[in-house]
Amino acid sequence: MTDLAIIGGTGLTNLEGIEITHRQMMYTPYGEPSAPVTHGNYGGKSIIFLPRHGARHTIPPHKINYRANIWALKELGVTNVLAIAAVGGINPQMKDKELVIPHQLIDYTWSREHTFFSEGLSHVTHIDFTEPYCPELRDLILDAAKQLPFKIHQQGVYGATQGPRLETAAEINRMEKEGCDIVGMTGMPEAALARELELCYATCAIVVNPAAGKNTNPITMSEIEKNLAEGVHQVRDLLNQILLKLA
Ligand code: HPA
Repeated sequence: MTDLAIIGGTGLTNLEGIEITHRQMMYTPYGEPSAPVTHGNYGGKSIIFLPRHGARHTIPPHKINYRANIWALKELGVTNVLAIAAVGGINPQMKDKELVIPHQLIDYTWSREHTFFSEGLSHVTHIDFTEPYCPELRDLILDAAKQLPFKIHQQGVYGATQGPRLETAAEINRMEKEGCDIVGMTGMPEAALARELELCYATCAIVVNPAAGKNTNPITMSEIEKNLAEGVHQVRDLLNQILLKLA
């Protein structure tokens, strides 16, 4: 059984260093996941990898089949899910290329299929989501991060927006007042669906731009891609440490 899955975000459609054993097409009651699931070994440990936006990065945040992705991982016997996500920095301390391990989130998304608990129920179910990220997996990540020479923020509030457009400066000001430190488009409903299926889920966010209005320049895709390409190396180093801890 493989117990760790990585959901790769923008900039991480494959995992360098993963020795691929096979790829598996999956079908779930909710449709197909974003891509065939990659099974492999990474640092001597078996691991599953799923690119959230599809193998060729073609699925925008609001079109991702989050339910199929999470269901497929559960069906494969995964117990821990590490989600990698690119984000904009709202808190001025969270700068480009730095990593953030969020401890809380606020959901601003709408109209996404966001629950497994809506049809054919024998009883109405409400999950406890007080702590949206799994404390055990967060602790393991933060412990792994201690060995690394670069800045990793130990907590932060992730604001999940609908996308695919970026936010207005006023929206970011409002989110800042409401307590958000970082902003991304994929954190929800992914985290809640993982909790519904009792998966231990945590996120490693890479800051790839100052959020709207936090810099005088407009936000460009080339800036995002450049920061991502550099930040992804740090994610890989962190992953290696996490896998050493799990071994
Ligand atoms: N806003 C929302 N999502 C993002 C951003 C942003 O500024 N940067 C990367 N993903």
